[in-house]
Amino acid sequence: MRDRQSLGDTPPEIFRKQLHDLADWIADFRENISDIRVAPNDKPGAIREKLPAQPPEDAEGFEKILADIDRLIVPGMVHWSHPMFLGYFGWTATGPGILSEILSVPLNVNAMTWRTCPAATELETVVIDWLRQWLGLDDKFDGVVYDTASVGIMHALAVAREEAAPATRKLGLTNRDLLRLRIYTSDQAHSAAEKAAITLGIGEENVIRIASDEEFRMDIKSLGQSIAEDRQKGFQPMAVVATVGTTATASADPIPEIGKICRHEKIWLHVDAAYGGGFAMVPEYQWLRNGWDLADSIVINPHKTVFVPLDFSVLYVRDLERLRRVFALVPEVLRGDTIEGEKNYMDYGIQLGRRFRALKAWVIWRSLGRAGVVARLREQNRLAKLFADWVEQDHRFELSARVSMGVVCFRFLGDAAPGPAGSIDRIDKLNSDIVERINASGRAYLTQTKLRGRTVMRIGFGNVLTTEEHLRDAWELIQKTAEVAG
Ligand SMILES: Cc1ncc(COP(=O)(O)O)c(C=O)c1O
Repeated sequence: MRDRQSLGDTPPEIFRKQLHDLADWIADFRENISDIRVAPNDKPGAIREKLPAQPPEDAEGFEKILADIDRLIVPGMVHWSHPMFLGYFGWTATGPGILSEILSVPLNVNAMTWRTCPAATELETVVIDWLRQWLGLDDKFDGVVYDTASVGIMHALAVAREEAAPATRKLGLTNRDLLRLRIYTSDQAHSAAEKAAITLGIGEENVIRIASDEEFRMDIKSLGQSIAEDRQKGFQPMAVVATVGTTATASADPIPEIGKICRHEKIWLHVDAAYGGGFAMVPEYQWLRNGWDLADSIVINPHKTVFVPLDFSVLYVRDLERLRRVFALVPEVLRGDTIEGEKNYMDYGIQLGRRFRALKAWVIWRSLGRAGVVARLREQNRLAKLFADWVEQDHRFELSARVSMGVVCFRFLGDAAPGPAGSIDRIDKLNSDIVERINASGRAYLTQTKLRGRTVMRIGFGNVLTTEEHLRDAWELIQKTAEVAG
């Protein structure tokens, strides 16, 4: 039988020492992050091979575990917080963000109802409203924090489904005389709309991809035509998911025009501003907000562009009660915990247990202020434009889309004049190779995507550590790699 004392937690004096060690580890990691590889170049399974397959029978010391993190985990990671990480949509690690995450761990609450943690619930309401004010959103919008935008979109479309097919919450979709529901989104939109349609029993084939124009924005005429055709076929248009900041090029759909169509057709308008939402805080990007007052719901990912560490996504719904009506359900065990008139965030989604996510938003937003957020987003935009200038000055490269916010899509053509289809395929492969080679080098990290069927290279800003100097190094690396690969 073990000594009783060893069954509790780490003794305070040892825990204090471990925390100090961890503080040093974190500070060293942040200070020296640019010295490590951005990404590993291992084959799948290489890390698992070095890890014990059997779970530990006996306790192991924290020192040993931390040493293994250095030895096995850190080298096996793509370092999204590395200043040369230019993939996807950058990342939001910052000093205050790290402190805020550390703080939330010892507090370790479950923010499912107001009673289970009044401070977590009320702070969530406060930070949601701060962000609403920063975005200039009408106060008819209120929100809820989820982990990701995909989950936010699913909840928004669940409400749209309930309004298009009343009593679905109660009766489901089958064995009822319901029309086939349709969702419209552009060919540039994120696949989260299909994921939601799968989850909600609407079916992925009922998500209609509307063509985009030359600027990668949803084509309004095609949207109107699709809706009209669907009505003729006896389908029921349910929602449009419009995007502000598409994943590939950060283009923005014409929300005011889409909003008018939705109002006229009486269908739900969801604005996916997962990426572009943050930029709507920047005065010169306020046009991004045009038409948002026509939306039924808007999702924004502060973990992309408002510097809250992953995960933190806010879904705003015009008249949030519509969301509550679809999801409120009080389990017997919590009946005594729910107080009329107080917000119980478990009522606004499928999740019961909830982390204290609001804390990190509160810490980081106080630490940066609106001015600090806007200044950093402006810097990302400046770097994006600067990079685009370099691309334009090198005749072997071309820009593949207008630069928007913090994203640049570009393509290496080499000296070859545009030729027959065969050479276009070769250029696609070449661009893909350049990205693969750079990522394998461990010196920088880019992504590749397809635009109009052609492979392009893409860089996305977001990391506060990325400076103009890093960007110049990355550009030189891209140029050199292209010369070798070409
Ligand atoms: C435009 C857009 N919407 C939605 C998402 C999904 O975001 P999440 O990972 O938070 O679900 C992304 C992800 O990059 C995105 O770019």
